[in-house]
Amino acid sequence: GNGAAKAGKSRNILEKLEEQDKNCVVFYGSQTGTAEDYASRLAKEGHSRFGLKTMVADLEDYEYENLDKFPDDKLAVFVLATYGEGEPTDNAVEFYEFFGSEDISFSEGGSIDDKPLGNLKYVTFGLGNNTYEHYNSMVRNVDKYLTRLGATRLGTAGEGDDGAGTMEEDFLAWKEPMWAAVAESMGLEEREAVYEAVFEIAEKPEMDAEEDQVYLGEPNKHHLEGSQKGPHNANNPFIAPIAESSELFTAKDRNCLHMEIDIAGSNLSYTTGDHIAIWPTNAGKEVDRILNILGLASKRNTVIAVKGLDPTAKVPFPSPTTYDAAVRYHIEICAPVSRQYVSTLAQFSPNEEIKAEMVKLGSDKDYFHEKVIDRNLNISQLLEILSDGKPWPSIPFSLIIEGLVKIQPRYYSISSSSVVQKDKISITAVVESVEKAGAPHIVKGVTTNYLLALKQKQHGDPDPDPHGLNYAITGPRNKYDGIHVPVHVRHSNFKLPTDPSRPVVMVGPGTGVAPFRAFVQERAFQAQAGQNVGKTILFFGCRKRDEDFLYRHEWEKYKEALGDKFVLHTAFSREGPKKVYVQHQLQEAAAEVNELLDQKAYFYVCGDAANMAREVNTLLGKLIAKHRNVSETKGEEIVKAMRASNQYQEDVWS
Ligand code: FAD
Ligand code: 2AM
Repeated sequence: GNGAAKAGKSRNILEKLEEQDKNCVVFYGSQTGTAEDYASRLAKEGHSRFGLKTMVADLEDYEYENLDKFPDDKLAVFVLATYGEGEPTDNAVEFYEFFGSEDISFSEGGSIDDKPLGNLKYVTFGLGNNTYEHYNSMVRNVDKYLTRLGATRLGTAGEGDDGAGTMEEDFLAWKEPMWAAVAESMGLEEREAVYEAVFEIAEKPEMDAEEDQVYLGEPNKHHLEGSQKGPHNANNPFIAPIAESSELFTAKDRNCLHMEIDIAGSNLSYTTGDHIAIWPTNAGKEVDRILNILGLASKRNTVIAVKGLDPTAKVPFPSPTTYDAAVRYHIEICAPVSRQYVSTLAQFSPNEEIKAEMVKLGSDKDYFHEKVIDRNLNISQLLEILSDGKPWPSIPFSLIIEGLVKIQPRYYSISSSSVVQKDKISITAVVESVEKAGAPHIVKGVTTNYLLALKQKQHGDPDPDPHGLNYAITGPRNKYDGIHVPVHVRHSNFKLPTDPSRPVVMVGPGTGVAPFRAFVQERAFQAQAGQNVGKTILFFGCRKRDEDFLYRHEWEKYKEALGDKFVLHTAFSREGPKKVYVQHQLQEAAAEVNELLDQKAYFYVCGDAANMAREVNTLLGKLIAKHRNVSETKGEEIVKAMRASNQYQEDVWS
């Protein structure tokens, strides 16, 4: 992991706790930042309510062999997200391997039966999604491992469900009894929580925002100095030129972007089936809104130096910077507001009446849902409504940095083949726009609307910004010519068979077709190069042939290269009186699909995790049962076994 790269830093958590005079470490295993956010919220709450001396720690920054010497008057908290197919998050891989290992051993030696972690008190909360097969398996397994090793859990092993949309409420409901158990076990008294800033914000009026050492969105020093240097990864994205962009939908009211992202000379590489991570910029409209509500609009370009008041507090962006750059490039300001955050902000309300409303919102779950969640409000939209647009200047900027998540890259399934175009990554991204009755604003997905703005700029669109989103197009200081976007590559296990003669069956409605465009592109290329390519069956679905049929004309080209080997089954859901989905087409082609699976065809599903991928999974079990004359239970088992052996692969999101 990256941890080892941070040379010179101690990876010994016991030393760290001593050195920093802490008695509670909150570890996080986080992929998209939510678990990290929950970890820092727990750390803050433990401190402000119970006087725990807390620190937050990235799991990949430490070693775990010495947890057998963890003192019994200290506490370890694990906030663990489960990713994809029950996998640990990238930063938790080593941790998970260590605890899952059959021959685990600790610094003092001894066997598992000696209960080496007998002194360790811990707390766990897991973040998962019940639409995936291995719901919260990370936290469940870690809890099991720790208990087996003799550690004592305080409170229940919490589980939050993103699939049901109840993550926040699951967390809030879990943490009160957990704190009671912790207070009891550690002999802590609850005290009146007082807000203590985590970060010091020093304004530097003597500095000019245009000065070379001020960060205006550059992710690190190399970028600031104008010399981007590899390796490019999550900590160091590559600012990639967008070579081409185009609209894939013919429908006027929705957009789906095809983009060609140039990675030549970056040292980034990808293989077919990988994901590209794209770093967004917030819309100027929302940047203005939050700066106005904080009373910082006139100081937006004031240079600020941000530092942690506690040495264990990590500033989530480089400093010195400006208020404008911090919220535009580094803080997730458009996301739904959390109820706990509203509670914390209540004390900074501009008057007593608003404060009473904030307290009510913070404490009444149903009221909060009705007024905030159901209306899709982000933080500044909520504050703006409550105060009629008048600023809330007493909110400390530190609380904005602490309380909101740092901006996260969004992932896209690469829709090009690395064999065909190794230096250009294609993406296929549908532009998110959520309009809801009764909601005062349309939710405009941050990244996809930014990409749309980039495309419109590139094309010199006469009406480039109908929603007044006002994106900064060229990025800070116009350092790079043309249209660019910060990216890195995330490797995946979603792969074509190494032997191209093996048949493949792909199911990908909507943007789920993205990686299959790459697969078919690759197989067409192989066929043209004279290789023996097996059957290549694609099930694609969309609303209407003439509206959102992605790559409609490209498939014909691939058909020329692949001949009978390529079959495209289409399902148009809104053309006739009845919905037709990919499942229906799959059912019709069941005999052939079953036969191909018998010939060891790979079966792939990509796209919507919530419904489609599940339904396809279930259906396949049934089809196999029917065509092989076995029971449905047996059919399910066959699908399970296919998953275990990678013959069935998923690339899904919700
Ligand atoms: P965001 O700003 O992240 O918003 C996303 C959604 O969150 C909104 O539509 C809305 O429903 C909700 N939301 C946001 N703000 C609020 C609010 N204030 N109140 C209530 N709800 C809110 N997408 C593709 O188009 N093509 C792909 O090939 C693709 N591949 C993917 C592969 C993987 C492995 C994963 C994990 C995801 C993939 N996605 C893909 C999805 C993609 O990563 C993004 O999630 C998607 O593009 C939306 O990003 P955004 O920044 O535009 O929207
Ligand atoms: P619909 O929106 O008309 O219901 C791409 O989004 C395509 O997937 C659309 O045609 C959409 O149809 C369809 N779709 C929606 N839900 C689905 C499901 N559960 N299974 C398969 N396809 C689905």
